[in-house]
Amino acid sequence: MISSEVRSNIQKYGQEHLLKYYDTLSTKERSIYDEQLNNLNFGYLDISRDNDSEKKEIHYEPIQALRKEDIDKDREQFEKVGIDAIKNCKVGAVLLAGGQGTRLGFDKPKGMFNIGVTKELYIFERLIRNLLDVVEKTGSYIPLFVMTSEKNDSDTRQFFKEKNYFGYDKNFVYFFVQDMAPSISYNGKFLMEDRYKLALSPNGNGGWFSSMVSSGLLDKMNKMGIEWLNVFSVDNVLQRIADPVFVGATILSGCPAGAKVVKKSKPDERVGVMCKENGKPSIVEYYELTPEMMEAKDAYGEPAYNYGVTLNYLFRVKNLIEINNNKLVNHIVEKKIPYINDNGELVNPEEPNGYKFETLILDMINMLDDCLVFEVERQKEFAPVKNKEGVDSIDTARELLKLNGVEI
Ligand code: UTP
Repeated sequence: MISSEVRSNIQKYGQEHLLKYYDTLSTKERSIYDEQLNNLNFGYLDISRDNDSEKKEIHYEPIQALRKEDIDKDREQFEKVGIDAIKNCKVGAVLLAGGQGTRLGFDKPKGMFNIGVTKELYIFERLIRNLLDVVEKTGSYIPLFVMTSEKNDSDTRQFFKEKNYFGYDKNFVYFFVQDMAPSISYNGKFLMEDRYKLALSPNGNGGWFSSMVSSGLLDKMNKMGIEWLNVFSVDNVLQRIADPVFVGATILSGCPAGAKVVKKSKPDERVGVMCKENGKPSIVEYYELTPEMMEAKDAYGEPAYNYGVTLNYLFRVKNLIEINNNKLVNHIVEKKIPYINDNGELVNPEEPNGYKFETLILDMINMLDDCLVFEVERQKEFAPVKNKEGVDSIDTARELLKLNGVEI
């Protein structure tokens, strides 16, 4: 049943079209739709209206990084502290696998993509193997939380099961589904993708912690004693996960978070760069870098905005809980969103027809007071599979895997 609150919001916000087919729905359709409507946040309509609101003034400055040379000097100490934390179950890993991977154009979850050439080698498998290296080194399994979306959850779970968790202990793997966000047409109406379904999409890679909380995983983590979460993207097939050196360095730095970064391949590489924004740690998008920022130099004569993020962060759970109470910004993105028209027919628009909403993990960094910028060797730890061809593609990732002696 639709709650009375939702009914009154439908009227208040002029969204009566949502109920156009309601009386014709079957019991099953109605129960799916009731659940969607009862969870619908009408506040998104206010956000889409405020789209033109004035932006705050932003002042960027460079941020100091812990460079590879600095890390090497204290590597042993960092590693020891990291291994201790892992052995004491203070570190969990969070795999962000809720994205839609549109650039790769693969119709299954991205982690199911076979990056192998002469043999099968799935992206999920590569990531698990990397994590297993740490399990071997520390003698302890790291709890692995896998974030899926409503669209790819069952495929992902099924694949892990079928492949016997790629050798990981399945008792340490927890799946959770990312929260979804509605889509809104340019004239301020929630879009529907069927007579009994809203047009929903994953709420962006910043939605991971709030989705963990709404899935009840915070209690579980507290019981396990997890104090740090290493969150990472699905597509970097070379990344080191729960890397003891990174974990130890972040703990010893006293910072509430750490970010694994690599030197940019060229000044205008399309990657977000660590910096300070109005005195807080932040990530400036490549298209926001001015020519002056690209030319600026640091004390070593190196480019001052030189460290690209790899989407591999370590967050202290205590601080995540704090920032989770101050809502993350919803970014409005104009997209082509399939919807049903007034006759109930599905339309696949050729031009953008409305707004989707995304939260971004980089905004979480900006909500913290500090972040350790931790440099890793690009050739060894950064092989993202974003595109079909060209930069950051299947081919470039394969080359890098070979370069690192991985049999593909
Ligand atoms: P990207 O920003 O590269 O998005 O995600 P994507 O969906 O994988 O790919 P494109 O842009 O459509 O081609 C970076 C990481 O964040 C995860 C992705 O799965 C990837 O690990 N992500 C992204 C989510 O988990 N949920 C989201 O809503 C968006």
